Amino acid sequence: MRDLIDRLATFPQAALGHAAPTPLERANRLSDQLGIDLWLKRDDVTGLGMGGNKVRQLAFYFGDAIAKGADAVLITGAVQSNFMRTAAAAGAKLGLSVHLQLEERVPSNDPLYNTGGNVFLDDLFGAERRSYPAGEDEAGADRALVKWAEELQAAGRKPYIIPLGPGHPPLGALGYCMAAAEYLEQAQEHTVHVVASGSGASHGGLMFGLRALGCQDPVLGICVRRSAGEQIPRLFDRCREIGELLDMENPVHEDDIAVFDDSLAPGYGQMSQPLVEAIQMMARLEGVVLDPVYTGKVFAGLLALRRRYIIPDGERVVFWHTGGGPGLFAYQNFWERIA
Ligand SMILES: Cc1ncc(COP(=O)(O)O)c(C=O)c1O
Repeated sequence: MRDLIDRLATFPQAALGHAAPTPLERANRLSDQLGIDLWLKRDDVTGLGMGGNKVRQLAFYFGDAIAKGADAVLITGAVQSNFMRTAAAAGAKLGLSVHLQLEERVPSNDPLYNTGGNVFLDDLFGAERRSYPAGEDEAGADRALVKWAEELQAAGRKPYIIPLGPGHPPLGALGYCMAAAEYLEQAQEHTVHVVASGSGASHGGLMFGLRALGCQDPVLGICVRRSAGEQIPRLFDRCREIGELLDMENPVHEDDIAVFDDSLAPGYGQMSQPLVEAIQMMARLEGVVLDPVYTGKVFAGLLALRRRYIIPDGERVVFWHTGGGPGLFAYQNFWERIA
């Protein structure tokens, strides 16, 4: 245990959110309804800029940026990115300027989608934003960030890039190695973990952290962006890269990686009837808000796994609520077309 914790402590971290731990709460009414013992790990209330998983990840990126003397941070993501919104808030708190590249990943000319929810908050936190037309070109989006950083450098600034694509040290995933340690301080019972699998920083960090700390609980990743076939090698690479970054052996074996894409259709950031029903169920039985891009899809995925008995009767399950609530407000027009 100490080995992982000691190594994590060698990386600079910025103090961004509430002090750990986030609450671990039993979802009583949902447990009764679903016939399982369901718990919510409330990473939606991490504390900075309306919270979410990205606060844990940004603590390491901003820690590194400050250690390197940066005064400007650049980041790319979907128009309704929670990562960018929380980065904007982190910059405001720490006094660094934040430059956001909004990728047109979800085809939409809906004004609420393009200016509401997270985008409204990006502006509120004082970030600068630009748009990037090709939403599926990760390497291209990273290259455009480098060009923007060069412009800032020419103007006398010290820019720091938070990269999107694979092949960079996964500093953000360290936040979820920390979260694994934090969770194991809260609960030791055998549990099935259900978590979003997007960039893989949260899913990969959690897997790595649990295994490195000797916990063999199953971790079920729910795909929010790519199919299960594409996500498995990505996740494995992410775990290998975490091992390289921490200079530790990777404790995650490829056949231990479980990802499911039952709830991904019709695609990243797009709505479906089961998604709306999942968000309503959580809201109406627990008073907890999920979002349409990430946590709603994860809960819809959990419900699908329960229907398929991959989650058996009476199982203890922890749903990692990774936040994203502000995005819901940007999806109101799409919602009304489906609900
Ligand atoms: C609310 C929310 N949940 C989950 C995820 C997925 O996390 P990761 O990128 O670490 O896989 C994101 C990523 O943007 C997110 O904003």
